[in-house]
Amino acid sequence: MLRSVVLGCGSYLPARILSNDELARSVETTDEWIVQRTGIRERHIAAPGEMTSDLAYNAARAALDHAHVDASSIDLIVLATATPDYTFPATAVAVQARLGINHGAAFDLQAVCSGFVYGLQVADSLLRAGIYKRALVVGAETFSRILDWNDRTTCVLFGDGAGALVLEAQEGTGTNADRGLLTTHLRSDGRHQAKLYVDGGPSSTQTVGHLRMEGREVFKHAVAMITDVIHDAFDATGLNAGDIDWFVPHQANKRIIDGSAHKLGISPEKVVITVDRHGNTSAASIPLALADAVADRRIRRGNLILLEAMGGGFTWGSALLRW
Ligand code: ACO
Repeated sequence: MLRSVVLGCGSYLPARILSNDELARSVETTDEWIVQRTGIRERHIAAPGEMTSDLAYNAARAALDHAHVDASSIDLIVLATATPDYTFPATAVAVQARLGINHGAAFDLQAVCSGFVYGLQVADSLLRAGIYKRALVVGAETFSRILDWNDRTTCVLFGDGAGALVLEAQEGTGTNADRGLLTTHLRSDGRHQAKLYVDGGPSSTQTVGHLRMEGREVFKHAVAMITDVIHDAFDATGLNAGDIDWFVPHQANKRIIDGSAHKLGISPEKVVITVDRHGNTSAASIPLALADAVADRRIRRGNLILLEAMGGGFTWGSALLRW
């Protein structure tokens, strides 16, 4: 049985760091309010002219270096983003071209904050079907470009960044001892569209628009949806919270992460947290967090990793992965 095995991971954050105190000089907020409600202390902001494809390229380059593989061996690029460089072509083809790849397929995938988990299931399906051999799954965002910087209820929450994994189809035994993706589960429910959306687009307003959110409504649904789809992953594999080495959740809000971990019975020492330094980077947050925990050697080969995300749509999903 084929498995999609992680060969390497990498990430990239823009140089500029925006602290809560600095934000509090332009909107009516405080470091104390932001930290207490969200756990966020600072976020990175892309430089003028620095685009999602630049962030994605740097993360992809780092992942390829970490995997010790040539870009030319990649035959699939799935790039999850809600903030593409242009309406079209896909940001993925810009990354493909900069990596010097001119074979295989590259496309963008849009599931907002759940984009990386969606990207993993899509890439995993194509790799296990034997259609491609080696994939880059990238999450990259420049949410700073779609924020209303006068709206304190949203602008304090998000940041820019990118992360990437290199996956390869390898023969496995079909048991939970295999390295690679063991299971992925996706959900969506479009009845919740209006709770988190961008009020612009090519077909509606012909503008880019700004992010709008009913924060309390999102919060209300988040923990239940996240834990539910994680139970799908446990049911599919027979694994449980006690088997997990590292829980790497989408980094939207420390309270949502803590609430989910608590409900699942995962101890705080096993939870990878980056939201304090990165804010919510949407589709980029999971690979950014993975790269962080790999770089400081928390995540090691053979570890069982639980991923989850939830975001606009609503979309949500989970994945179990043996590193
Ligand atoms: N600074 C100071 N005060 C603020 C700020 C701010 N930045 N933002 C809102 N407030 C005020 C509000 O105006 C309100 O004042 P009022 O009582 O006088 O009306 C008060 O703080 C409380 O506002 P609430 O919205 O009730 O605050 P809450 O405790 O719900 O926290 C938050 C807001 C942090 C947005 C929370 O609802 C949340 O985290 N929701 C989840 C949203 C999320 O994470 N979205 C990310 C995208 S989806 C995803 O990635 C999962």
